[in-house]
Amino acid sequence: MALRLGDIAPDFTAETSEGVINFHQWLGNSWAVLFSHPKDYTPVCTTELGAVARLKEKFDQRNVKVIALSVDPVDSHKEWIKDINETQNCVVNFPIIADADKKVSDLYDMIHPNASDTMTVRSVFIIGNDKKVKLILTYPASTGRNFDEILRVIDSLQLTANYSVATPANWKDGEDVVIATSVKNEDIAAKFPKGHTVIKPYLRMTPQPNK
Ligand code: BEZ
Repeated sequence: MALRLGDIAPDFTAETSEGVINFHQWLGNSWAVLFSHPKDYTPVCTTELGAVARLKEKFDQRNVKVIALSVDPVDSHKEWIKDINETQNCVVNFPIIADADKKVSDLYDMIHPNASDTMTVRSVFIIGNDKKVKLILTYPASTGRNFDEILRVIDSLQLTANYSVATPANWKDGEDVVIATSVKNEDIAAKFPKGHTVIKPYLRMTPQPNK
């Protein structure tokens, strides 16, 4: 059955461009982004891996490890990384899983046969420090992902894991948030001392509590 939000991210051991990794051990107490690429030496994938490498510091600041996957062998990954570094003004500084036998792709349902039965789609899994799947995205091969959006979602996931809030449409770190409907009116002042606004009984806003 396909993976769903809240499931434990399946564990695996795989060869990567940075050596053999046991996924759960590698995760440790970190959050993670696991994302797949259709194939090595393809243009959109080259730009995506470069974009992630340039953002690596921002993932580190959020205690998030990044790991990519492509269904080509490790020697191919290592040669391709040289091209990525050369063309994308970056140093690829995270592992790329060599999933030639499609073991991990199958485990995470990254091959959608009606799109392609040999290449993975562009999957993104955000995994919490409890090893549970927090977000799943699927893009087609023709559309490169927006990794600033992935960072934005991580900010929301980490905030809402710690406070009784949700984040509204197009929210960005630092903006006002929605008070969870589970919070009773009489408890708001103690929980959210920065103040709040009642727009409707079910729509109550407060400044971001951890800022
Ligand atoms: C690309 O990364 O450019 C790509 C990969 C597979 C199919 C189409 C495009």
